[in-house]
Amino acid sequence: MELKEDAGNMKLIEPTLELESEFFAMVKEFKDEGRDIIDGIGSIDLENFKESIKQAEKHAKGLELPEGWVPASTYWLICQNRIVGTCNLRHELNDFLREFGGHVGYAARPSERKKGFGTLMLRLLLEKAQGLGIERLLATCDDNNIASARVIEKNGGKFADKVQTEYSEKLTRRYWIELANGE
Ligand SMILES: CC(C)(COP(=O)(O)OP(=O)(O)OC[C@H]1O[C@@H](n2cnc3c(N)ncnc32)[C@H](O)[C@@H]1OP(=O)(O)O)[C@@H](O)C(=O)NCCC(=O)NCCS
Repeated sequence: MELKEDAGNMKLIEPTLELESEFFAMVKEFKDEGRDIIDGIGSIDLENFKESIKQAEKHAKGLELPEGWVPASTYWLICQNRIVGTCNLRHELNDFLREFGGHVGYAARPSERKKGFGTLMLRLLLEKAQGLGIERLLATCDDNNIASARVIEKNGGKFADKVQTEYSEKLTRRYWIELANGE
């Protein structure tokens, strides 16, 4: 699938107060499709946006992490000032992430799906992961999430296994993506 927008105009940015209304417009679209848990929003607290933007910056630096959390960065995929997706990169794996969550979470804005943005978002996240020195990235999705599985496969994901976990009624597919180590 070809990107319907100029990929060169698109980038991942850290959450910013400047795009607050744009962010909430996207969140409304997620809510309208019945989605309460939004993959990729990371630690952004919708009730307390301003404070949580600061928290997200701290969490990316490994500061003030809630018990059991690992350092994680949240990004928005933007085209000019329009947010077309949101994603999250966990800098390391703990037991929960190794079994179920993986290194990454991502969601494309409902009105912007099937335009290649999900695939682009993961590709850009892989660059961020490489920058952190991650050599093998774990990406997971529900067994019936065909779109997410395609996004992972199109980014070089090698299917590892399907597991039943205590965190979901559905089977979880796990994929590994090998990243060059910057040599
Ligand atoms: C998964 C998701 C991010 C994909 O985003 P997207 O921008 O639509 O993805 P792309 O346009 O890059 O499409 C990637 C592939 O998935 C396919 N695809 C997209 N939506 C699809 C759907 N509803 N059913 C089947 N295939 C689909 C596309 O055709 C494309 O495959 P192709 O190149 O072989 O044709 C998006 O559906 C989403 O946000 N879903 C809700 C949140 C979520 O599930 N996140 C992932 C959690 S693991």
